Amino acid sequence: MAKAQHNGFSNSFGVVMAAAGSAVGLGNIWRFPYICGQYGGGAFLLVYLIFVFFIGMTLLMCEFSIGRRTRRAPVKAYPALRGGGNGWKLIGVVGIVTCFMILSIYLVISGWTLNYFWESLTGSLFGDSGGFDTHFTGFAADSMRPVIFMLIFLLLGLVVILCGVKNGIESISKLLMPLLLVLVLVLCVRSLTLPGAIKGLDYLFHPDFGKLGPQGVLAALGQSLFSLSVGMGTMVVYGSYIPEKDNILKSCVWITVCDVAIAVLAGIAIFPAVFSCGLEPDKGAGLVYVVLPEVFHSFGFGTRLFAMLFFLLLSLAALTSAISLHETLTAFLCDCGMKRVPAAVLVAVLEGALAAAVAITFTGETPETAADRTFFDWMDYLTATVLPPVCALLTVLFFGWFMKKEDIVDELSNHGKLKIGWFGVYYKVLVRWVAPVALLLVLILGMMGYIK
Ligand code: PFF
Repeated sequence: MAKAQHNGFSNSFGVVMAAAGSAVGLGNIWRFPYICGQYGGGAFLLVYLIFVFFIGMTLLMCEFSIGRRTRRAPVKAYPALRGGGNGWKLIGVVGIVTCFMILSIYLVISGWTLNYFWESLTGSLFGDSGGFDTHFTGFAADSMRPVIFMLIFLLLGLVVILCGVKNGIESISKLLMPLLLVLVLVLCVRSLTLPGAIKGLDYLFHPDFGKLGPQGVLAALGQSLFSLSVGMGTMVVYGSYIPEKDNILKSCVWITVCDVAIAVLAGIAIFPAVFSCGLEPDKGAGLVYVVLPEVFHSFGFGTRLFAMLFFLLLSLAALTSAISLHETLTAFLCDCGMKRVPAAVLVAVLEGALAAAVAITFTGETPETAADRTFFDWMDYLTATVLPPVCALLTVLFFGWFMKKEDIVDELSNHGKLKIGWFGVYYKVLVRWVAPVALLLVLILGMMGYIK
């Protein structure tokens, strides 16, 4: 099979940092702590860990193998493994469409975060007499500010992508991931040393199986996919940059460990602080942009510093994730024959326009549209609940039932150089049955409205 030439990652460390950069994002720091608390703390964590290591990691391994084997972006990768057949393109197409949509929302929320970082830096976040709730609604409903910050964020990502896979994406991930770990640890220490911090830890870790329920189980599965950036073709693209010598299975374990660790640390940084201030953990956007500024405000000393550190942490985590989505779309266009620079710029222009539309339609208030959802809500629902499990399901079915097993073993064992005797059982049980059935379940129930 003719392999397209890619300028890939330099070594295993680069692979782990770049992929962890994609995985660790708003999903870990913004979404995970809140849903973990909502669905029974330790109980959710346990189910999430099972899903992330068994289902999410399986998907990661599938996408990496498909990418490295073909050295192609998603749309062409699947047919290449079947010796043609245009129907297989569909899997990649679903991934690309999902990426395109998710990036627009991601850019909007990242823009908010960057704005909050800026406002913490200048102090204007704490100068508003109307309260943080009004501050956030006012900001989100502004027709210019969210768009400007979103565009700045988009440009930052574009610059990294234009520097290339190794010099741009890999280098920035190697720099930012350790920095992120330090930042989150500093915030954990601050949070844990506040009076009454233990209540927050209890909320996060105490296993309350009564609160879990089927919805919590399904939310854990959805979160495990989103958090590992699988089900969108992103890891197929990153897989196509993995060097021949890398041990894919080992890298997958490391990436998953990094992803889970940052999510749990983010919970430890957030909840004890929230409880210590006598506040209730609100959900989603509210927690980070409304409750947390209130928490930082009540610190007395270091308000601006800790707010700045937190929003810097969130912006940097979001940046490497947004870059991976941008790169996926760029790689897809390159695979269709475009040159890298115009491809990356074209993606930036299209995404900039879509994200501006999303930002402008978001008012932060109750939607007035017919189906009770705004444009923003629809995009969020489709990209978080429906499309990734569809793409993940098709991917795992393709990998388990349509890709030659000899090719898979050859790829994962680095052409027989690594011993992977246990892989047969893993393949038969998890890849062929457990993962597809679990994904089918989450998809059906998700579309029936069980999870949001
Ligand atoms: N994993 C990212 C997060 O947790 O925020 C989100 C994400 C990035 C999903 C890239 C998918 C993707 F391709």
